[in-house]
Amino acid sequence: MLELNEKIKEHFRNPHNVGEIENPEGTGTIDNPVCGDTTKLYLRIKNGVVEDARFLSFGCAVTIASASVLTEKIRGKEISELLLGTDEEVVKRLMSLIETELGEIPPVKLHCPPATVQVFLESIGGYFEKEGENELSSKAKRLIPQISEYYKRGGEKE
Ligand code: FES
Repeated sequence: MLELNEKIKEHFRNPHNVGEIENPEGTGTIDNPVCGDTTKLYLRIKNGVVEDARFLSFGCAVTIASASVLTEKIRGKEISELLLGTDEEVVKRLMSLIETELGEIPPVKLHCPPATVQVFLESIGGYFEKEGENELSSKAKRLIPQISEYYKRGGEKE
């Protein structure tokens, strides 16, 4: 049987920020390309700052834990700061916001956290597009294909 560490189990049993936001400034839905599990993200954004972040997920424990951690970590943050750096640095930093907090993830579950990062980038890409901020919108969207490498890390799903 698959063993998950205590941190993951804790976030799975008591996930933070589950729910919806009415009329969110940023939102997106992802079906994990490896397993099809779905996560929906809602962002309340004011003056470029993530004031609130919530999610709903029909996913596994690691996906729920990932969304719980990411929504917690991005609250109160300026989006431009979260996107600061080279494309590679930004994707790595977003991945590590989740994975440093969760600790060791079993190899068969390594495809789960990238979907949370992807849906975040899609949500803010759409938000900036609506706001007419083309540079940040294109940056967020340009980062998405870079996530594909992270989906491949653990091999086949369990
Ligand atoms: Fe599908 Fe984790 S997201 S198994």
